[in-house]
Amino acid sequence: MASFLHFFTIILSVLLPLLEATTPHGLKSLHFSLYQHETINKTGYIIVNGVAGPPVSQTTTPFGTLFAFQDPLTLKPNYTSKVVGTAQGTSITSGLDGLESISIASITLNVKKHKGTVSIVGLTNNIKPSNHPVVGGTGDFLFVQGYVTSSPVNLVGLTVTYKIEFHLYWPPYAFPKS
Ligand SMILES: *[C@@H]1O[C@H](CO)[C@@H](O)[C@H](O)[C@H]1NC(C)=O
Ligand SMILES: *[C@@H]1O[C@H](CO)[C@@H](O)[C@H](O)[C@H]1NC(C)=O
Repeated sequence: MASFLHFFTIILSVLLPLLEATTPHGLKSLHFSLYQHETINKTGYIIVNGVAGPPVSQTTTPFGTLFAFQDPLTLKPNYTSKVVGTAQGTSITSGLDGLESISIASITLNVKKHKGTVSIVGLTNNIKPSNHPVVGGTGDFLFVQGYVTSSPVNLVGLTVTYKIEFHLYWPPYAFPKS
């Protein structure tokens, strides 16, 4: 019996720290989706032409293409719906297949009583969902962590639309006790 209790205590002492690490005690988080609309030669422009790979099309750009954008973010898929944010950034085609690029963006938001910016960086695939790590924020998003998932909704026509899902988490030190 004693050895069983001993064994049980050892198991508990091994398991408890693991459970604690995966339980986000008091961690504040926010989850929501917006829609990004990009109109070629209006909200997004090729600044430098690429050098190799497939030509410019709805979904591809030559390797090395430098693109800059300032796109509105709306609440609903229709671009006439309410604008609640802006995504400003740049992307450089980094896949020789012309489908992938390294994207850097600062997203200005005014949603769910939160105002500020969220900065993201990562690989974007033009035709598949892509996860972008959140590298920080400003305003109400100061110290924020997490990721955003960008998925194509409509790639036909002059304006293309992506769904942007935000998964934001604030570390405990974002809210120092006064
Ligand atoms: C955008 O502008 C560039 C440079 O003027 C032009 O070559 C290209 O055809 C335009 N694209 C569209 C879709 O209008
Ligand atoms: C978007 O909304 C406008 C105005 O309400 C409407 O005329 C248009 O058909 C809608 N477009 C789509 C794709 O639902």
